[in-house]
Amino acid sequence: MDARALTKVFERGRRTWIQRLRREPDHRERFVAVDGIELRVEQGEIFGMLGPNGAGKTTTMRILATLLLPTSGAARVLGIDVREQPREVRRRFGAVLSGERSLYWKLTARENLEYFAALYHLPPRRTRERIESVLDAVKLTDRADDYVERYSMGMRQRLVLARALLPDPPLLLLDEPTVGLDPQAARDMRERVLELRSEGKTVLLTTHYMEEADQLCDRVAIIDHGRIVALDTPTALKRTIQAEEVVRLEIAAEADGVVSRLSENAQVARQERADGLLHLTMHTVSARDFVPRAFDAARAAGATIKHVEVVPVTLEDVFLALTGRALRE
Ligand SMILES: Nc1ncnc2c1ncn2[C@@H]1O[C@H](COP(=O)(O)OP(=O)(O)OP(=O)(O)O)[C@@H](O)[C@H]1O
Ligand SMILES: [Mg+2]
Repeated sequence: MDARALTKVFERGRRTWIQRLRREPDHRERFVAVDGIELRVEQGEIFGMLGPNGAGKTTTMRILATLLLPTSGAARVLGIDVREQPREVRRRFGAVLSGERSLYWKLTARENLEYFAALYHLPPRRTRERIESVLDAVKLTDRADDYVERYSMGMRQRLVLARALLPDPPLLLLDEPTVGLDPQAARDMRERVLELRSEGKTVLLTTHYMEEADQLCDRVAIIDHGRIVALDTPTALKRTIQAEEVVRLEIAAEADGVVSRLSENAQVARQERADGLLHLTMHTVSARDFVPRAFDAARAAGATIKHVEVVPVTLEDVFLALTGRALRE
């Protein structure tokens, strides 16, 4: 699957039918949601698009899923152009897209799958075997005859994944597969996704959870404002920032110069005032060397360090280093 210079422009606000009828010029603001995305997803890999809200992840995925036309640029799914042969593309992937998690609540899981199997024109003689197989893949076999309305969020999400797996597609598009799930259900879902890879399937997913991108993905594209700001394996991405460790400090008192003193010994990745404290995220080569110096520097500036925490580098830090913002802002 690849995308070349993929761009999507939306118009903000609405145009009334009167304006349309009178052929008034369209004065709406144009908004570039996807801004020249270039990527190539290899067969058999889990590829993640990581980025904050509104970065353009879902829009990109919807274009690849042939649900939206790109404004310009091109995309091919398994070698087939999404613009030229959308029907052919649609036959080759399974998708769990946001806003499309509809299931029939008054039916059991198995009945839901039977219904969708018919809808997808699965050959009837294969239906039973496929249903058993996908129920097993998402670990719902023993609850298959329960009504979906009695399912937990995590189980529903897994059933939606099962639905996407019904035609046994070589490619899966998963938009925020763990959104809204509790930690246990999210972990469970991630395991299911990893199993898909071991079966040789290709997975393209979006997420705004950096841990998820880190744990799950072979490669990650970090997306911000419709652009890819970095693309590599999680390990390589983390290596790009010149730090081995991240030190989080909470400092009390309005001390002038404390930040500049600290920045002599490490890089200030982020500073923020909250709850009367100065919260600093420092990138450093060695926390062992930096932390004692930080205490000296704070003392010299007349400030008190209230809390110190040393954490490993995460993709969040990569995003921070690239954009100056946190993923969750
Ligand atoms: N149909 C549309 N019309 C106008 N603007 C849209 C439309 N769909 C999306 N947008 C805008 O495009 C931008 C990107 O949206 P998109 O849903 O792709 O972001 P995202 O990265 O998936 O974010 P999130 O993490 O919140 O799901 C947003 O500013 C959104 O408001
Ligand atoms: Mg989205």
